[in-house]
Amino acid sequence: MYVHLIFYILIVIPTWCLLAEHDSTSEHRCFHQPASECRPNDLCRCHQLKDIKRAAVCCDVNKFTLTEGLACANITVDGQVEALHIRNATLDVLNVTQPVWKRLKYMTITDGQINSLVGEFAKLSSVSCLNLSSNGIKNFAQRSLVNLFNLSFLDLSHNNLTSVPRFKKEGSVILDISDNPYMLCTSLLDTLKKREVNVSNEDVTFCLSSKTFHWFNSTEKLPISQVQGLLEIEENCIENCTCQPYRMEIVLGKQPIFSVAVNCSGVNLLSLPTPLPPHTVSLNITNNNITSLQELGDPSYQHLMFLYADNNQISTIQQMEGTKFMSNFVVLSLKNNKIKEFETYLLSNIKFYRTSDSMRYINLGHNKLHCDCKTAKEFKVWLLSKLEHVPDYDAIGCDNMDVKIMELEQTKLCQSQQDWTDYIYYIITAEVLLLIGLIAKVSYDYWVFKTAGYLPWPASKMPKLPCDWLCE
Ligand SMILES: *[C@@H]1O[C@H](CO)[C@@H](O)[C@H](O)[C@H]1NC(C)=O
Ligand SMILES: *[C@@H]1O[C@H](CO)[C@@H](O)[C@H](O)[C@H]1NC(C)=O
Ligand SMILES: *[C@@H]1O[C@H](CO)[C@@H](O)[C@H](O)[C@H]1NC(C)=O
Ligand SMILES: *[C@@H]1O[C@H](CO)[C@@H](O)[C@H](O)[C@H]1NC(C)=O
Ligand SMILES: *[C@@H]1O[C@H](CO)[C@@H](O)[C@H](O)[C@H]1NC(C)=O
Ligand SMILES: *[C@@H]1O[C@H](CO)[C@@H](O)[C@H](O)[C@H]1NC(C)=O
Ligand SMILES: *[C@@H]1O[C@H](CO)[C@@H](O)[C@H](O)[C@H]1NC(C)=O
Ligand SMILES: *[C@@H]1O[C@H](CO)[C@@H](O)[C@H](O)[C@H]1NC(C)=O
Ligand SMILES: *[C@@H]1O[C@H](CO)[C@@H](O)[C@H](O)[C@H]1NC(C)=O
Ligand SMILES: *[C@@H]1O[C@H](CO)[C@@H](O)[C@H](O)[C@H]1NC(C)=O
Ligand SMILES: *[C@@H]1O[C@H](CO)[C@@H](O)[C@H](O)[C@H]1NC(C)=O
Ligand SMILES: *[C@@H]1O[C@H](CO)[C@@H](O)[C@H](O)[C@H]1NC(C)=O
Repeated sequence: MYVHLIFYILIVIPTWCLLAEHDSTSEHRCFHQPASECRPNDLCRCHQLKDIKRAAVCCDVNKFTLTEGLACANITVDGQVEALHIRNATLDVLNVTQPVWKRLKYMTITDGQINSLVGEFAKLSSVSCLNLSSNGIKNFAQRSLVNLFNLSFLDLSHNNLTSVPRFKKEGSVILDISDNPYMLCTSLLDTLKKREVNVSNEDVTFCLSSKTFHWFNSTEKLPISQVQGLLEIEENCIENCTCQPYRMEIVLGKQPIFSVAVNCSGVNLLSLPTPLPPHTVSLNITNNNITSLQELGDPSYQHLMFLYADNNQISTIQQMEGTKFMSNFVVLSLKNNKIKEFETYLLSNIKFYRTSDSMRYINLGHNKLHCDCKTAKEFKVWLLSKLEHVPDYDAIGCDNMDVKIMELEQTKLCQSQQDWTDYIYYIITAEVLLLIGLIAKVSYDYWVFKTAGYLPWPASKMPKLPCDWLCE
């Protein structure tokens, strides 16, 4: 008697209330019957419940006994049953294209062994609460659940899913995806992004980050809160730009940090965007009208390693001097800008091999430098020593002559200057020799005059000048 009463209070009343209020949309928990409701000795594996109207239970079914059971319990196309719990179904595939389920509002298939779900719930199915927990399900067919427009609670916990099946896009769904040990974060992230989902059992929901996904370095089990952190990266981006997680940086004993890649290409920027989102390591500002690298010194640029600034109007890298980017950078891409002079001395103190397998790269192709002897002597020499690090070295040109930097010849460019200096030296040498000759001749004349008393040629032949009396 007491047992019966307790059973009634525990099971029947809540379920009844559930069924009674199924039209008030708010909180649905799925229809659920305990194993004790099963009748193992019945030939018919399904039966309608006595205490609850329009509800039925099936137990221990396989492909054949399920179809039979549904029929013998009068769960038919024009039947009355609205709530169904199938316990311990052993099926390789469960085909959910079942006309007899059309009237169901609460559908629960749990505690069985089902490999995959195929088919699709019929259009206009009224199922609002679907519990497919604890079946070891591995796959869902693409469209299995997409017709469930009234779905508000979906329990897929305790299965072996690697991805979240698709379900309706409009309207929010409470999703329980806990304890699917092979669930991939990419799929979960995608679901959270594209659908209105409230995750239930959040604290015990994890997903696997995959090796093949670029922003994860290794396979890791992540709590769902971190996957939601990834969503925030995309939501808190710079206006008109897009942000993506770049990599997960794991420091033992600390919360992992997601570094960020920002894409601001082709959004009519005139200067570098500031501030960048926290932990930005990559910035793409290709196809803008940026004229200077002034903002590289901004504190939000402190983690930046990759700067893609192709197709802009940048004229100098001078502003890199003293910035953190200067010591951090891995890629600096300045293709097709307006660089006239490239200050190689700025880069003289950095290592171009950061480690044996990680190098720095600078792209400078399709810039036209001002070329003179200095360019040939300094820039070209620097370039020749960095060919590995400047992959597009052969596309750097000159604005004042029609040659590539690689074709500049020091001997030609610096020749006229050399001729001039040599000429000066010749004149100076000739003048010095002339002077020495003159002094020697004058001294000789003087000595001859003193000893022999006459002046040698040509002094003797020179006409007397008015000032000669001074000497005499
Ligand atoms: C779904 O079924 C599982 C296993 O029987 C149960 O633990 C869980 O509470 C059910 N979920 C809902 C929302 O009813
Ligand atoms: C599940 O059903 C199968 C038969 O389909 C049966 O052999 C097995 O004992 C059942 N398991 C439980 C836990 O009832
Ligand atoms: C099955 O349902 C039909 C139509 O609702 C009803 O007439 C019939 O009595 C039911 N049979 C059983 C065994 O419940
Ligand atoms: C599922 O069942 C429906 C009809 O019962 C059938 O048309 C469909 O081909 C089945 N789907 C699969 C994948 O077996
Ligand atoms: C969905 O639910 C609403 C009320 O909650 C109901 O009016 C409507 O008929 C349902 N749609 C389907 C396809 O069952
Ligand atoms: C689901 O995964 C668990 C844990 O790896 C495994 O023990 C179980 O056999 C799998 N179930 C199925 C149906 O593959
Ligand atoms: C989902 O969560 C949001 C806030 O966390 C809440 O406002 C909303 O009502 C929830 N939706 C459902 C269907 O529970
Ligand atoms: C990525 O993994 C490799 C080895 O798999 C390791 O050497 C490297 O430090 C890791 N990098 C980061 C940022 O975690
Ligand atoms: C974003 O783009 C819109 C439309 O192109 C433009 O009006 C707006 O100024 C841009 N915002 C920023 C911060 O560049
Ligand atoms: C960056 O954004 C532009 C414009 O929105 C887009 O065309 C491009 O594909 C994006 N690039 C990457 C690498 O995401
Ligand atoms: C930067 O953006 C441009 C234009 O959207 C794109 O073509 C290029 O691939 C991007 N670069 C990188 C490294 O993502
Ligand atoms: C840059 O500015 C010029 C005019 O000053 C304009 O024609 C061009 O479209 C702009 N380019 C970009 C990528 O905004």
